[in-house]
Amino acid sequence: SDQTKKKEELLQGICELLKENVRYYDWVGFYFHNGDKDELILGPYAGAPTDHTIIPFGKGICGQVALSNQNFVVPDVQAQDNYIACSLNVKAEIVVPIFINGKNIGQIDIDSNTADPFTKEDEKLLEYVTAQVAKFI
Ligand code: SME
Repeated sequence: SDQTKKKEELLQGICELLKENVRYYDWVGFYFHNGDKDELILGPYAGAPTDHTIIPFGKGICGQVALSNQNFVVPDVQAQDNYIACSLNVKAEIVVPIFINGKNIGQIDIDSNTADPFTKEDEKLLEYVTAQVAKFI
């Protein structure tokens, strides 16, 4: 529908804005809980296409956040045993959940080709972004 298209354009714009304006954000995308299935589905993103358009709950950094309902900051992806590699260039990742009425409905996922780049400021920025997204999604 037009409404869905509008929302997707807004999410796409957020991905591009973040990727273009933060040097160490190399891939920015949204994953959403896929209906009542225990899996995530890829939404709008900016950066290289990924094969991982569906991620089961519990799998990888994203799948773990679907269950933990908490930010997950990974300074070194190689040190994680439950990690799904999208690109060999990626060194670090941050995932922040999106809540609507306290329910985890998805997340923003950012990959960085820079080692250990994320600080509390990134978490704050992304929590702000996810709170705004929760209002219109
Ligand atoms: N690295 C993620 C998979 C998604 S890609 O980064 C786009 C993970 O481990 O869940």
